This record gives sequence, structure tokens and C-alpha cells, in this order.
Amino acid sequence: MLKVGMVGMGGISHSHRKAWSQIPEAKIVSVCDIREENVREAAEETGGKAYSDLDEMLSAESLDILDICLPTYLHADAAVKALERGIHVITEKPISLRKADVARVYQAAEAHHCRFMVAQVLRFWREYIALKDAYDSGRWGKLLSGNMTRIGHTPKWSWDNWMRDPERSGLVPFDLHIHDLDFMVYAFGEPKNMTVHRAKRPNQDAFSVVYEYPGFYITTEAAWYDTDYHFQAAYRFQFEHAVMEYKDGVCKIYPAEGGCVTLEADKDANVNGINLPATNGYFNEIRYFTDCVLAGKDCERVRPRELECVLEIIDRINRESERK
Ligand SMILES: NC(=O)c1ccc[n+]([C@@H]2O[C@H](COP(=O)([O-])OP(=O)(O)OC[C@H]3O[C@@H](n4cnc5c(N)ncnc54)[C@H](O)[C@@H]3O)[C@@H](O)[C@H]2O)c1
Repeated sequence: MLKVGMVGMGGISHSHRKAWSQIPEAKIVSVCDIREENVREAAEETGGKAYSDLDEMLSAESLDILDICLPTYLHADAAVKALERGIHVITEKPISLRKADVARVYQAAEAHHCRFMVAQVLRFWREYIALKDAYDSGRWGKLLSGNMTRIGHTPKWSWDNWMRDPERSGLVPFDLHIHDLDFMVYAFGEPKNMTVHRAKRPNQDAFSVVYEYPGFYITTEAAWYDTDYHFQAAYRFQFEHAVMEYKDGVCKIYPAEGGCVTLEADKDANVNGINLPATNGYFNEIRYFTDCVLAGKDCERVRPRELECVLEIIDRINRESERK
């Protein structure tokens, strides 16, 4: 049985806890958070031992896996700490706000013969996998254009308001847009060019980026609006012989010959409390990571060069929008 420790028992940890509970070869043996109420609740739910300090947990427990759900700015240091003790690591996105951390973390994983993976969930999200399959197979002809959207309200729930601190969260590009951008780089490769438009104020931030690829382009938008605006994640892709759309948690394909095919609903969807659509993406990513650990294989579905490329593009979005 693989012994799993989790650190950062806030919003997203609920989806990870549920996923681990569905993995028969692994068990959460310890949980860690600096907030007593969070760690108590997580310990009661999972049966894991409660800790308030990561170093203490890593020293006291002989973990096989550390699952990091900490605020973004703490991911890379926590990952390196665990890897240096020979513990396999899965961390929530993003790996870091700094590109240099990608090599630092992967070098630690290699030096200590450990598996490491960033949980870029869209790579494991059924409706996005269907889109990649359509592109790779050419089933509907060539891709001509695409649109990806991820918008919501400015977060007010995070611990110590870390999400609204640019130094700790990187704001909208790292919180929301990174999902779509990471998927694009994974599915379609590195874009050849991009154009950025952004409307940023102290409590709100909205931007659009058009990414150009040979033969097609993808328009994207990401925003935190300072209102009660509800979260939306969607895509719409135009192929030569069909349009694929993902909206309100449902994926539909409109073939040129007419009609509409709906992708069947995900069985045993991991419904969570953080306003995201029902999906098994969190289970799928943790299942894949566990399989890599068990097989002693690198997590090739999330590669370091792709992570670096995403961080380079976000850096460009920030620089270009500041220049305008
Ligand atoms: N994949 C997704 O769909 C998705 C969705 C939401 C968040 N995330 C990512 O997950 C991460 C966490 O986000 P969240 O929404 O759960 O944030 P959150 O603020 O709800 O939770 C973070 C938790 O970490 C704890 N913490 C802070 N410092 C700590 C420390 N030094 N040691 C131990 N615990 C500490 C806080 O008390 C809090 O409980 C972020 O990096 C975010 O980008 C991913």
C-alpha cells in the first residue's frame, strides 16, 4: 500500500482527497495544514494523522507520495524538500511562478529517483481529451480555429487572501488562464505568435490572447471580475467537417452533415465544492500518477519543456500587457 501525505488542506484538497479514496493501492496516512480547523477536518475525513508543519510530517512519516495542494508560491520548495527525501511528488498547478523552478524540481526528482508530476488537470479531463483526440486523429478534418474561455469572479475565499497577491499567486494568468494555455501547449504544441489585450484594475483583471499556429488560430479569454459573476469554462473548436463545443459541463459535436452528438456524461463524476464542473479529471490525474509510481516510469503526460513554455508565454502576456 502506497502511503500518501497531503499538505495544504484548503479548497482543491477536497477533490484530491476524494480521488485518493478511489485508489485501492494508496492510502492517505497524514495531512498537514497550518490552520487547525482545516487539518482537523481533513484528518477526520481521511483517517490520516494531523500535522501543522510539513518538515515535521516528512520527518515523522515514511511517506511514498506527497500530494501538494499549498498556495502556488510554496509548491516548488515543498516539492524539492520531499523529493530530496526520496518521496514521489504530485503538486497542484502551477509548478511555480518562476521558470527556473522547473529545472530545479525535475533535477531533484532525477537525482533521487522519484516520480514528479504537476496536476495539470485538463490533460486528464475527458472533454479536453476528446478535443485532443479529434485534432490528433483528423477525424473531422483540419483544425481551422478555436476559442477557449475561463472566467469568474475575483477570489475572496483563499487563505490569507494569497490569491489576490501577485507575488504569491501570479493572479489570473497563473490561476485561470494557465489551464487553457497548458492544454494548448500539450495538445497543439508551442504557438508561433500571440497578441494580447488586457483590462486590469486593482480588483479585477480581464484579458484576451490570440494564439497563432500554422493553419489555425485560437482566441482565449480569462478574467476575474469584481462582481458575483459565476465561473465558466468553455471551448469551441472549428474543424473542416465539424464544430466541437464544451459549455456548461457538456461536450457536443456538430458534424457538417447535420445533427449533434453529445459526449456521454462522465460516470462517477467528482463533484466538488469549488464551483468547477463535475469531472473525473482529478481522479484520472491521480490514477495516472499512481500508475507511474507503481511502474517506476516518468510521468510523460506532463513534460518539463511544456511547463517551461507555458511559463515563458505567461511572462510574455504580463510584459506585453504592461507595455500597452
Ligand atoms: N486544478 C484545479 O482545478 C485547481 C483549482 C483550485 C486551485 N488550484 C491550485 O491549488 C492550490 C491551492 O489552492 P486552493 O484554492 O486550495 O487554496 P486555499 O487557500 O483554499 O488552500 C490553501 C491551504 O494551504 C494552507 N497553507 C498555507 N500555507 C501553508 C503552509 N506553509 N503549510 C501548510 N499549509 C499551508 C492554508 O491554510 C490553506 O488551507 C493553488 O496553487 C491553486 O492554483 C487548482
